[in-house]
Amino acid sequence: MTDVTDSTQLLAPVAFPQDRTCPYHPPTAYDPLRAARPLTRVTLYDGRTAWLVSGHDTARALLADPRLSTDRTRAGYPATSPRFKALLDRRAALLNVDDPEHHAQRRMLVSSFTLKRATAMRPAIQRIVDERIDAMLAQGPPAELVSAFALPVPSTVICELLGVPYADHEFFEEQSRRLLRSRDVAEVRDARDRLDTYLGALIDRKLDGPPGDGVLDVLVHERLGDGTVDREGAIAFATILLVAGHETTANMISLGTYTLLQHPERLAELRADPSLVPTAVEELMRLLSIADGLLRLATEDIEVAGTTIRAGDGVVFSTSVINRDESAYPDPDTLDWHRPARHHVAFGFGIHQCLGQNLARAELEIALRTLFERLPGLALAIPAEEVRFKPGDTIQGMLELPVTW
Ligand code: HEM
Repeated sequence: MTDVTDSTQLLAPVAFPQDRTCPYHPPTAYDPLRAARPLTRVTLYDGRTAWLVSGHDTARALLADPRLSTDRTRAGYPATSPRFKALLDRRAALLNVDDPEHHAQRRMLVSSFTLKRATAMRPAIQRIVDERIDAMLAQGPPAELVSAFALPVPSTVICELLGVPYADHEFFEEQSRRLLRSRDVAEVRDARDRLDTYLGALIDRKLDGPPGDGVLDVLVHERLGDGTVDREGAIAFATILLVAGHETTANMISLGTYTLLQHPERLAELRADPSLVPTAVEELMRLLSIADGLLRLATEDIEVAGTTIRAGDGVVFSTSVINRDESAYPDPDTLDWHRPARHHVAFGFGIHQCLGQNLARAELEIALRTLFERLPGLALAIPAEEVRFKPGDTIQGMLELPVTW
């Protein structure tokens, strides 16, 4: 008897990543990956093949395995796009650093991203959300929700937390967009250089001035001051916190809003019982899996699921496929507030699990609850099929979301 896994692995590997056909479902082209749990092969854009992890338990085991490195400067590190390849010459702080160095870096920041700190930020997040909705009400309807709400909310929040002037938002949002979405290698590197220069100047100003209470102020005065971090290291921290701190959450807000509008019965349930919002956010995180394609390089042979991942092999984790493993989530394609979705891998797992997850959850809960509460008639202003969403080689989200109310 041939089982599904064996027969699928005999076929040509599926290309990864691919564009979604519906913004809140994995591409239908990934169906063979879903059938081939827990591990199969994919072809990357440069023709190289890599392991694709698709099973939930296997994913959690491998994401916690120190034999898989995130150091993208290692020879043979897999790349899912030319944009990504352009960045392989330098490690991002935290994300591309292995233990023990990773542990030391994370320890410097973890106290700024605890649940307690995120809870303390809730009144500020609520104020920022309300101000944006006030502005929408004053000017509309209609409105373009990404630029009026989904992007400015997390962008303002991360600026306040880090101590970055929000007045500079157009500059750093544009550079983040070029860094995370451009398909032009020169443009990607140029965006990185411009962010370096901008954040370097900000760090120099902070060093010369009186200590503020932003995360970067503390970093500069305590860590740069005592030599634990050098200027280049401080810029690397600032870059990942600023970029990861607004782009991802902005995409979750826009895509989460779109998904809720496409599920009016679920939305009605949330409106009737706002205590469901935290579980709804968790389920939306699972279903939408916006960071779809976490990358690793095997540094040793790893025996897993009856197969050997060889040292030097690239490994890709498709969070959208992993988070729809039927053995972990019955009826996985359905949006269901009543399932325990908390152990999803949409924030990653293991030592690199998202540092900003407590903050992101607080932002998503407040943004989505307040948006639907204060704009009870919120609806798409154009047909759902015409709403443009992001391509598969980026963090998933909406390019624009025209709405009315
Ligand atoms: C809904 C929004 C977000 C999503 C979906 C998300 C997703 C992720 C994922 C999947 C990882 C792990 C990557 C890997 O293992 O390769 C990660 C790491 C990280 N995220 Fe987030 N993130 C979000 C919001 C944030 C926010 C608000 C911040 C704020 C600073 C942030 C900062 C980071 C950092 C610094 C890391 C690297 C952690 C490490 O390597 O130790 N993220 N995120």
